[in-house]
Amino acid sequence: MTDVAPSPTAAELDAISVQQLRAAGGVKWTAYPGTIGAFVAEMDFGFPPRVAEVLEAALRSRSLGYLPPVEHRALQEATVAWVDRTSGWRVPADRVHPVPDVLTALRETIRRFTAPGSAVIVPTPAYMPFLTVPGAADREVVQVPSRVDADGRYTLDLGAVDAAFAAGAGLLVLCNPWNPVGRVLTREELLAVADVVERHGGRVFADEIHAPLVLDDVPHVPYASLDARTAGHTVTALAASKGWNVPGLKCAQMILSGDADAAAFAPYAADLATTVGLLGARAATTVYTDDGGWLAGVVDYLRGSRDQLEALVAEHLPGAVLSRLEGTYIAWLDCRGLGLPGPAAAFFRREAGVGLTDGNACGAGGEGFIRMVMATPRPILRRAVEQMGAAVARLRTTAG
Ligand SMILES: Cc1ncc(COP(=O)(O)O)c(C=O)c1O
Repeated sequence: MTDVAPSPTAAELDAISVQQLRAAGGVKWTAYPGTIGAFVAEMDFGFPPRVAEVLEAALRSRSLGYLPPVEHRALQEATVAWVDRTSGWRVPADRVHPVPDVLTALRETIRRFTAPGSAVIVPTPAYMPFLTVPGAADREVVQVPSRVDADGRYTLDLGAVDAAFAAGAGLLVLCNPWNPVGRVLTREELLAVADVVERHGGRVFADEIHAPLVLDDVPHVPYASLDARTAGHTVTALAASKGWNVPGLKCAQMILSGDADAAAFAPYAADLATTVGLLGARAATTVYTDDGGWLAGVVDYLRGSRDQLEALVAEHLPGAVLSRLEGTYIAWLDCRGLGLPGPAAAFFRREAGVGLTDGNACGAGGEGFIRMVMATPRPILRRAVEQMGAAVARLRTTAG
């Protein structure tokens, strides 16, 4: 893929072609050959040149060993500095535990901080692995379908979350910004969650991996930063992997803001630290410290793509409802009004050549929906929606 300048311009991102993306060989463009890949949360925009410098420097040095303590510390400090700079949340650096990925942080949270036999509450629609990871850790999942209005705007059903805690659940998985429905939850909404959790002595796993990707002019508020209650009952997970597009480098950060949690976790921390790769840690330290403006350029582009997608859906897929994408680059589209035969993603893969995730995979309330990763050059996004619209039009002609 062509290297972009430190802060990529829209023209540079627009110019990235399907051929280049296929040649790059990522999962998004190879899993379903011949289709436009829009199902996995990766961006088609490469990664910051500063990350490339980190990787090239490692090659030159001929040194690829374990993460040295000094770099482990540098990552902790860079993480807390970034969190402070972007949200005003101050956390001591030793509360940051590098882990290979956010799902490892979820597994650790379930294992170390929930009682055997207690269920895990997952508001739906949800990021797909939230529905399966707890089961693999011997915990039942309680799906709590969220409320949605006619415009496709989702809010948590706190009454149902309350009932699930009352029935014995121990942990709430809170994803904000919310994959797949695109909401950035407000401080008021988060405070209302905190009231429910505290009432039951419950816990929260706050997945904030998409925090760098807020598109609307709203703040991302880290849930644990709200007050002493939320700091005490929350494990937060972050990563550079979505915002700076480096999930293959396998480095995320788990933040233990509660004093009791930090003490309880101490015996396991050293082992966990050995699971993180040197290059992922260096890349995260670099972008959290100074990414050269790359993220700002990409978020600006995504904002324009979101607006373009809204117009494209209105033009080519009338009857579908697109949820407003306040954050993330994952669009959530209600296709129930399109009269499709069978699951929507299968229809669009077969008839439109676009690879999407079916809403069914996102849990209760996802039937008839699709999840579309729109972080692709705008000409490709346009082509994808045009092909989807043409497939629906053909269906209508055949049916008529
Ligand atoms: C909300 C959310 N959490 C976690 C992940 C996975 O992150 P990781 O690869 O760090 O486990 C993703 C990836 O798309 C995601 O969207």
